[in-house]
Amino acid sequence: MKYNNIDFDTKTILITGGAGFIGSNLAFYFQTNYPKATVVVFDKFRNDEKFSNGNLKSFGHFKNLIGFRGIVISGDINDEEALAELDEDYNFDYIFHQAAISDTTVAEQDLMIKTNVNAYESLLKIAIKHRANMIYASSASTYGDGSVFEVGFEAPNNAYGFSKMMMDNVSYRYINKQLPISIVGLRYFNVYGGREFFKNSTASMVIQFAHQILSGATPKLFEGSDMILRDFIYIEDVIQANILACSPKKSGIYNVGTSKARSFEDIVNILQKELGIDNGKSYIINPFVGAYQFFTEANIETSRENLGYSPRYELERGIGEYIPEIKRLFEVEVKC
Ligand SMILES: NC(=O)c1ccc[n+]([C@@H]2O[C@H](COP(=O)([O-])OP(=O)(O)OC[C@H]3O[C@@H](n4cnc5c(N)ncnc54)[C@H](O)[C@@H]3O)[C@@H](O)[C@H]2O)c1
Repeated sequence: MKYNNIDFDTKTILITGGAGFIGSNLAFYFQTNYPKATVVVFDKFRNDEKFSNGNLKSFGHFKNLIGFRGIVISGDINDEEALAELDEDYNFDYIFHQAAISDTTVAEQDLMIKTNVNAYESLLKIAIKHRANMIYASSASTYGDGSVFEVGFEAPNNAYGFSKMMMDNVSYRYINKQLPISIVGLRYFNVYGGREFFKNSTASMVIQFAHQILSGATPKLFEGSDMILRDFIYIEDVIQANILACSPKKSGIYNVGTSKARSFEDIVNILQKELGIDNGKSYIINPFVGAYQFFTEANIETSRENLGYSPRYELERGIGEYIPEIKRLFEVEVKC
C-alpha cells in the first residue's frame, strides 16, 4: 500500500539495521511498491558474539533478506570508515535508521550509548550533507514505567530507554538549527509481525507464545499478566509511520502505537482461538521487576496531526494476518 505521493522509484534510500526485523520489512516494502528505488541495506549481521545477558550482540539475519534485490552491506555503524564509504559512494534522499542494540535488557552501557546515540549523530551528519530526510527508531521505552505516554514525559528505567531518549535529544539539537532536511524520531511501542523470529528471546511475545502453543507446551506468562498492559503495534502500521515520516508537517518525535493498551493474557487468548489449541496458561515470576513496563499506551494525537498516521491494525487483526507466517516459521525453523 502506498501511504503518500512520494515517488520513491527515483530515490536512493539507506536502511541501517536492514537485516533486522523492522529494517528488512522496510526494504521489502520499497522493493514491492517502488521496484526502481535504489535501496541500500547496511547491517552488522550476526556472529556468535554475546552480551553479558547471554543474548546475541546483533540480530541481523540473512534469512530476513531472502528475495531482496537491493544492495546489502555488512558493516558496523560504530565504524567511522564504513560510514565515510557510505557517504562517498551514495547520495541518499532518505535515511531510515533502524540499526541499534535493540535488546532492552543489555547491561553494557558503554556500547549501548556508543551504538545507539553516538553513531546516530554520525549518520545524522551524513543525512545533512546529503540533504536526506532522516527517519529513525526511537522507542516507547523512553517512558519507562511512567504513566503519561507523550513527548515531554520521559522516565527511562533501563540503559536502552536512556539511549533512545538521548537520540531524541540529539535530534532536538539539530531540529533547532532549522536545517533543510526533516528529522523524525518514531517512538515505536511493542512491535510484532513477520521477520521478527530471528530476534530470538527478544522477539515479541506474540511469536513466542504462539510457538509455545504450537509445540504443545502451556504458554508461560508473568504473574499478574492480565494486569500487564502494553500497546502492541503491528509491523504494517510501523511501515505506514515510516513512510509518512518522510514528509512530516513538522520535524519531531512521534509515538507509533495503536493508542489501545492490551494485556499479555489477551495475546494468548487470541492465539489460542486463532490456532484452535487450548493448552491452558501457566504463570512464572517476572525477573525484570524494576526495569519493566507494566503499562504502555501511546498518545498518538501529534502523530495523527503532523504525520497523518492512523493505525489500521488492532491486536486481533494483526495477529490474524500474522498466523500463516507464524505457522510457517514453526514448521521450517522451530520443529526441525
Ligand atoms: N521491535 C520493537 O518492538 C521496537 C520497539 C521500539 C524501538 N525499536 C527500535 O527499532 C529499531 C529496529 O528494531 P528491530 O525490532 O527491527 O530490532 P533488530 O534487532 O531486529 O534490528 C536491529 C538491526 O540492527 C543491526 N545492528 C545492531 N548493531 C549494529 C551496529 N553496530 N551496526 C550495524 N548494524 C547493527 C542488527 O544486526 C539488527 O539487524 C531499533 O532501533 C530498535 O531499538 C524496536
